[in-house]
Amino acid sequence: TEINLEEHFQNKIDSEIRIEPKDWMPDAYRKTLIRQISQHAHSEIVGMLPEANWITRAPTLNRKKILLAKVQDEAGHGLYLYCAAETLGVTRDQTINDLHSGKAKYSSIFNYPTLTWADIGAIGWLVDGAAILNQVPLCRASYGPYARAMVRICKEESFHQRQGYELMMKLAQGSPEQKAMAQDAFNRWWWPTLMMFGPKDADSGNTELSMKWRIKRFTNDELRQRFVDVSIPQAEYLGLTIPDPDLKFNKETGHYEFGEIDWDEFWKVVKGNGLCNKERIETRKKAFDDGAWVREAATAYHEKRKLREEQ
Ligand code: ACO
Repeated sequence: TEINLEEHFQNKIDSEIRIEPKDWMPDAYRKTLIRQISQHAHSEIVGMLPEANWITRAPTLNRKKILLAKVQDEAGHGLYLYCAAETLGVTRDQTINDLHSGKAKYSSIFNYPTLTWADIGAIGWLVDGAAILNQVPLCRASYGPYARAMVRICKEESFHQRQGYELMMKLAQGSPEQKAMAQDAFNRWWWPTLMMFGPKDADSGNTELSMKWRIKRFTNDELRQRFVDVSIPQAEYLGLTIPDPDLKFNKETGHYEFGEIDWDEFWKVVKGNGLCNKERIETRKKAFDDGAWVREAATAYHEKRKLREEQ
């Protein structure tokens, strides 16, 4: 019966046995995984855009190689994640349509513009740093295909984070103009990065069930706090000023206490009204339309081979 199935399912989760595509799972589990994995995939794909903006203007050949490799990695991450979503019974066409129609969400962070070269450093250091903190626990997510996809993704994210921090270090130790650029990028990316972790626990509708199902292992606030605790010493090492007048270290708890996040800004961006939301979706749609001939050619080739094999 349904009740026994559900009990058996939860027992497996509680004993850390992975759920695989053909196993029975509650509809709500399937639905939340499709939601989270497809949002995650879209974030990787849309996340290519702010950085791709600087590929042609990277200051050296070496920096250009690094940036190209990184943006290509993000494309790969998106593809594994779309595959993981497909194992739950949605087609890639459906998921991509939902992105293009504005129905699907993707990370708020990718709706901010990359104004200077220092933004590439800030994204690697902060945005990819936040992504790693959020994604390492996902390597232990209860759903097999998602967890396995995350292993390689996290290794690559770790390279992305290091290249970003190294870039920031070069700027922070450079000329006064370069240091000012690094500080300006830090000022603009710090708060939006804290928003990446999602709403406060009290306003996070999905956390409770996702924790019970061990899709999430930590809450949004727990991961955000961890991010602040590791990032502040890194900023200090760079000699940058943290753009938060309320920030203070609490000796008793061993944690940094930080100022209030602008949640109105967060929801504005999530609802499609951030600085670059429209531009991002338009760019993705154009890329998809421009690639139509590739899909048509691949289908025609496949049909031709099938015919030949049948003869
Ligand atoms: N940007 C856009 N939407 C967000 C964000 C964000 N930063 N944070 C939360 N939301 C949305 C949620 O998707 C949810 O909307 P929905 O119910 O319509 O799907 C709503 O706000 C409420 O949030 P939560 O209940 O806290 O949602 P959830 O439990 O899914 O937690 C989180 C959000 C932490 C982002 C989770 O989905 C997750 O860990 N996802 C996988 C990691 C990921 O997607 N990273 C993308 C950025 S990193 C990168 O791509 C490099």
